Amino acid sequence: MDTAEIRRRFVAHFESAGHTPVPSASLLLDDPNLLFVNAGMVPFKPYFLGQETPPYDRAVSIQKCARTPDIEDVGKTTRHGTFFEMCGNFSFGDYFKEQAIELAWELITKAQSDGGFGFAESVLYPSVLDGDDEAVGLWRKVTGLPDERIIRLGPKENYWSMGVPGPGGPCSEILIDRGPAYGPDGDFSAEDRYLEFWNLVFMQDELSAVRSKEDFDISGSLPRKNIDTGMGLERVAFMTQGVENMYEIDVMFPVIERAMELTGRTYGADHVDDVRFRVVADHVRSSMMLIGDGVTPGNEARGYVLRRLLRRAVRSMRLLGYEDPALPELMPISRDKMGETYADLHTDWDRISRVAYAEEETFRKTLQAGTTMFDLAASKVKQSGGASIAGAEAFQLHDTFGFPIDLTLEMAAEAGLSVDEDGFRGLMAEQRERAKADARSKRGQHADTGAYRTVLDEHGPTEWLAYETLETESRPLALLREGVPVTVLGPGEVGEIILDRTPFYAESGGQAADAGIIEFDGGRLEVVDVQRPIKGLVVHQVRVVDGELATSSASSSLLHAQVDPEWRTGARQAHSGTHVVHAALRQVLGPTALQSGSYNRPGYLRLDFGWTTGLTPEQVRDIERVSNEALRADLPVGWQYMTLEQAKEWGAVALFGETYDNTKVRVVEIGGPWSRELCGGTHVDHSSQIGTVVVTGEASVGSGNRRIEAFTGVEGFAYLARERDVVGQLTSLLKIQPQDLVPRVGDLVDRLRAAEKEIERIRLQQLLSGGAELAASAVDVGGVRVVAHRVDGAGGGDVRTLALDVRGRLPGDQPAAVVVIGAADGKVSVVAALNDAAQSRGLSANDLVRTVGPFVGGKGGGKADVAQGGGTDTSRIDEALAAVLASVQGA
Ligand code: SER
Repeated sequence: MDTAEIRRRFVAHFESAGHTPVPSASLLLDDPNLLFVNAGMVPFKPYFLGQETPPYDRAVSIQKCARTPDIEDVGKTTRHGTFFEMCGNFSFGDYFKEQAIELAWELITKAQSDGGFGFAESVLYPSVLDGDDEAVGLWRKVTGLPDERIIRLGPKENYWSMGVPGPGGPCSEILIDRGPAYGPDGDFSAEDRYLEFWNLVFMQDELSAVRSKEDFDISGSLPRKNIDTGMGLERVAFMTQGVENMYEIDVMFPVIERAMELTGRTYGADHVDDVRFRVVADHVRSSMMLIGDGVTPGNEARGYVLRRLLRRAVRSMRLLGYEDPALPELMPISRDKMGETYADLHTDWDRISRVAYAEEETFRKTLQAGTTMFDLAASKVKQSGGASIAGAEAFQLHDTFGFPIDLTLEMAAEAGLSVDEDGFRGLMAEQRERAKADARSKRGQHADTGAYRTVLDEHGPTEWLAYETLETESRPLALLREGVPVTVLGPGEVGEIILDRTPFYAESGGQAADAGIIEFDGGRLEVVDVQRPIKGLVVHQVRVVDGELATSSASSSLLHAQVDPEWRTGARQAHSGTHVVHAALRQVLGPTALQSGSYNRPGYLRLDFGWTTGLTPEQVRDIERVSNEALRADLPVGWQYMTLEQAKEWGAVALFGETYDNTKVRVVEIGGPWSRELCGGTHVDHSSQIGTVVVTGEASVGSGNRRIEAFTGVEGFAYLARERDVVGQLTSLLKIQPQDLVPRVGDLVDRLRAAEKEIERIRLQQLLSGGAELAASAVDVGGVRVVAHRVDGAGGGDVRTLALDVRGRLPGDQPAAVVVIGAADGKVSVVAALNDAAQSRGLSANDLVRTVGPFVGGKGGGKADVAQGGGTDTSRIDEALAAVLASVQGA
């Protein structure tokens, strides 16, 4: 049965049981805790948590998923795919355990001729969470299986959570026995033998912390009992297609076949090669799907995962003996298979292939540069007599050149060296920790929304008037402090207030929250932040400026909520400015430049967009020019509601990671089709009201993303005024006209450089001019002519030059030893230089430098003729020089 048929049967089965088919969401949903959508339930999370009301009670989906922590296992097992599709049926407070079991069992055991998957009951084993007797009873009832066929397992296997705070619950997995060839009888940990292919989660708990699969805190029950199931499409495919593993199924094997043609090697002949073939098939597909959803290669987070996938695919092809660009040969094959389901792969192919092929090119260059760096590191190790490349070197190769560790390991092995892998992994772990901590601090933690939900249930959604007015009379519904209801907020205190109606804009869609005040009888609150922690509810974070606000007194009287009009004007300018810059960006760079994030507050905006190369100064200027032309054209700004479908037809730009339910979406347009975006923000009425757009910079923000920043409105003029001021100060300082500034400063810099060079030349001359005198001052120590001298203000390079110069001036037929110790900036530099005759006497420069070491708090070494060292203690240099003389004397 091909995968298309499995999909069709899955959806049809659940559709006929009253489930609404829901298309797959993007792999990139805006969940702060998730890198990628990694389960079918992710897009439905707000429904499970009760944050949003689902438009249906039952749903069925086939969701694109990516899971990359197991990337190293790809190809080694039958079942680790970095991209996979999860077939799932969902009940939101509708049916629970019994019907979930019935529906699943029916589909998998029904004969293929009847539309099922036709698995024999004799090879199926359901598992339950040990202690969930209800589930055991239901499995027995529904399937008629005897008790011993129902396996009880611990929470590690049979309690499902997202791995992060959120919904969770006990689960039942369905395992299929593939026979004794794959593992011992009854050993359910032998995953290749007892293959799990469907997980039914009885979603009932809310988790506040997840430390491991077995160690988590349940903070309460979900508002309703739900069902979330996930059936692995690839797993069912490989079992029904009679192949060995997921890499051999109909939508993946053609890539392996093409790789065989290209490399001339055979799949199935050698285990090591087989793993490489599977890595190629998996990674080519995963990276294509990720690029399809808007990821671009980079050095952080999502971009890094993509980069790794692409590079591992290319690298595996090289290990299979294929050195030419591989992706242009392989990715189109994957596109043709996956494109049957995901038509965007075809329509968006230009962009997808460009991103992928460019990364392969970069990697090829990397390989060249990194190889040189590797050779250097390897020869350094060998020279110093070592056998192992340091973890820090391996990490640098990885971090700077994108060298995968397996590549470093392999090249080291070829050079007869090992690699300090532990050291490397330690550094990698540190880097990951840093990244995680960074992500946590940026996105904040999952908040407990219980108190908000209570207010919403009791009073209904906030009447939200941000589009209509800047002030309202409102009734307070609740006061909270750190999410907990309180009865009073005293002077100076910070807390939260929920009103029945509000004119305040809550932070969303990149627009900062409104500022303003809320007045009440006898006092005043300053609004410091406004958020919508759950759909429909606006929460104001406030500081009590005057008076005391108590629920008892306040509930009787009305409050006056007033947005700061200056603030809002600035906010509207900045948000419309963001749309203008986005449209200008796309006009200048082309339609593939797509916003990946944005932020705007009064006077300022920034916009991140997927783009792999830096912009030229001309491009930046063009973006600014096109933006300001749009302002001058005084384009009308308007907005209207429509269905998502219509919005797409209109060409409105929808951003990845936003979720839209079936209700209407808001499309904001500037100058008709010139700029159309799905947006809930507040905007000006005409583009000229933005005042001005002053682009201040453009830079990389990692992961194939660039950021452009600009000031709008009066802030824009203020910025220009500051620049004008700088120019004014410089012209008066230099007493020239502004147009002469650049040539004059250029000229000054040139002259400064020339002067510095000249100073350096003179300094060296002076230093060496002392050489003859020093040579003449040599003293005879037991038949050796010795110069032991101190130079203040000289660093390592000068000390060496001087020592060698003096040695050259001493006659070669008599033993001579020169030791120069320099002291500069609290640092000591020592150089000893001996001629051949001194070495023949058994003297060694290395020994002399070692003699100095203990006096100057340092060390050093080298060869018998020249040795060099350093230290940090300048107080005992004279003693050190005496010790040198004594040492020569004693030799
Ligand atoms: N959420 C569960 C899983 O990922 C079932 O869909 O296994």
